[in-house]
Amino acid sequence: MNIDQFKDWVHKDFGIYLFAYKENQLNRRILSLMSRVGAKDLDEYVKLLKTDSNQRQKFLDFITINVTEFFRNPELFDELKKELQAYLDAHRNGIKIWSAACSIGAEPYSLAIILDNLKNSDKNTIIASDIDSTILERAKKGEFTDAEIKNVEASYLKKYFEAKNDKYTIDTRIKNMITFRKHDLILDDYEKGFDLIVCRNVVIYFNQDIKEKIYEKFSSSLNRGGLLFVGATESIYNCKEFGFEKASTFIYRKL
Ligand SMILES: C[S@@+](CC[C@H](N)C(=O)[O-])C[C@H]1O[C@@H](n2cnc3c(N)ncnc32)[C@H](O)[C@@H]1O
Repeated sequence: MNIDQFKDWVHKDFGIYLFAYKENQLNRRILSLMSRVGAKDLDEYVKLLKTDSNQRQKFLDFITINVTEFFRNPELFDELKKELQAYLDAHRNGIKIWSAACSIGAEPYSLAIILDNLKNSDKNTIIASDIDSTILERAKKGEFTDAEIKNVEASYLKKYFEAKNDKYTIDTRIKNMITFRKHDLILDDYEKGFDLIVCRNVVIYFNQDIKEKIYEKFSSSLNRGGLLFVGATESIYNCKEFGFEKASTFIYRKL
C-alpha cells in the first residue's frame, strides 16, 4: 500500500480526508507514529488499526492534535473583547457565534465568559464544533486541568469555576450557553448567519487549496460586518479576496 492508498483507506474507515492536510508534514507524522508502534510498513499499520481500538484512538488523537487552553494568546482575546463590544453595541438582540474546531471546549467557554461579562443580551447563541466526537464528549463535561486554565484571570476563576481534586469544572450556566456538535470543516456544509466565527490553530495543518475554500465558506457564513478570529500564526494576507478587511491583527471583518 502506498501513502495515497493509505489516505483513501483512512477516508473510508475513519471519515477523515487526509488529502486536505499539508502533505510533507502529514507524511512525516504518519511515519513517526508508525515507527513508534513498531509497524514496518503501511500494510502492517492498517492491520493494526483494523484490530486494535487503542491504536485507532491514538491515530485519531495524533492526526487531530487537540492542544488548547482558555484564552489562548490572551492579548488577542483582549483585542477580540474590544471588537466584540463595538459589535454588540450595534446588535442588541443577541448574536450568533461559531467556535469551529473547538477541541475540549476551552475556546467556546472562553467566548461564553466574555459574552457573559459584556452583558448585552441573553439571546446569544454559541455553537462549538469539532471533527472528533470523543473530544466533544470531554468538552461537554467542562472539566479542565491547571495547565488549561492558566490564562484565566483570578476573578473569572472564582466566578465561573469550581475547583475540586485538581480539576476545574465550568459553571453550569456557562455550559448551557453552548451547543456542541460534530462538524468536519473539510467535508461538511457550513451553517449561515454568524456574527462571529472563531477558528484557530487548525487550518495550519491544511494545504493552501483547502485553507482558501474554508475562508470562502467562512465568508459566506458570516453576516455583513461579522468577525472572523484566527490563530496567532494564521494571518490571511489576501483577506480582500475572501471579502474581508482587517479589523485587528488576527481579526477580520466581512465587508
Ligand atoms: C490544535 S486544536 C485547536 C483548538 C482551539 N481552536 C484552539 O485554538 O485552542 C485543533 C482541533 O482541530 C480539530 N480538527 C482537525 N481537523 C478537523 C476538521 N477537518 N474539521 C473540524 N475540526 C478538525 C481537532 O480535532 C482539534 O480538536
